[in-house]
Amino acid sequence: MTWSSTSPTPRSPILRRSEPAPPDSRRLIAEVPSPARHLDFAASHFADPDVAGWHWPGSLGGPRTRGQALEMLERGLEGQRADGYTLWWWRERASGEVIGMIGLRSVTIESAERVEVGWSVAPRRWGEGLAAEAAAASIRWGFETARLEQVISYTMSGNTRSRRVMDKLGMRFSHEFVHVGLPHVLYAADRGRWPGSSTLGAEC
Ligand SMILES: CC(C)(COP(=O)(O)OP(=O)(O)OC[C@H]1O[C@@H](n2cnc3c(N)ncnc32)[C@H](O)[C@@H]1OP(=O)(O)O)[C@@H](O)C(=O)NCCC(=O)NCCS
Repeated sequence: MTWSSTSPTPRSPILRRSEPAPPDSRRLIAEVPSPARHLDFAASHFADPDVAGWHWPGSLGGPRTRGQALEMLERGLEGQRADGYTLWWWRERASGEVIGMIGLRSVTIESAERVEVGWSVAPRRWGEGLAAEAAAASIRWGFETARLEQVISYTMSGNTRSRRVMDKLGMRFSHEFVHVGLPHVLYAADRGRWPGSSTLGAEC
């Protein structure tokens, strides 16, 4: 998940009478982006070079300001209204802490409209399986609730942690491509081949 200035603008909000609840999992609950609930976390998270360097590498500018973090939350909320899904913010049931942003969003990749599963977890919580758990719940939600046919994920070729998450999820490697001038890899998950239950704690 690398953001570029050419990422599509979310479509106009559509009013829905009864929107399905976001996913949850054994340890985590997803929340729709909210400046009131998530801005402090988002501002410090996306100001961290260890995080931002993967989302906005090279000429994309790296660490984000608090104002840019707020714009991201607002775009995330627009995505939720337009599509019914977004990059949700996940709270740990046991501690009540926000641990990161994981979920689904509409993207244009290689000139095609796709739905991406993406992730970003607080560095102090890396290696606990939280990205994989929340992503498994998000993909399952995408197939079962949003009835998506396919979910893709992409990352810079050198992002071994992110690629490991894709492998653990059981996504299949599709191909390498160049995005924002940098080598990337693309993985995919297809609804028809996705297991009905996950081993990664995605008990939605
Ligand atoms: C990628 C990221 C979301 C993973 O979050 P996480 O909660 O630590 O992910 P998980 O614990 O589910 O899985 C991480 C896996 O990577 C492995 N890993 C950690 N460091 C690694 C490294 N340097 N090389 C290879 N694998 C590594 C972990 O061991 C783990 O695999 P395992 O469960 O088999 O042991 C997190 O590192 C992050 O937010 N990075 C910065 C933002 C980013 O890169 N986002 C993705 C952009 S596309």
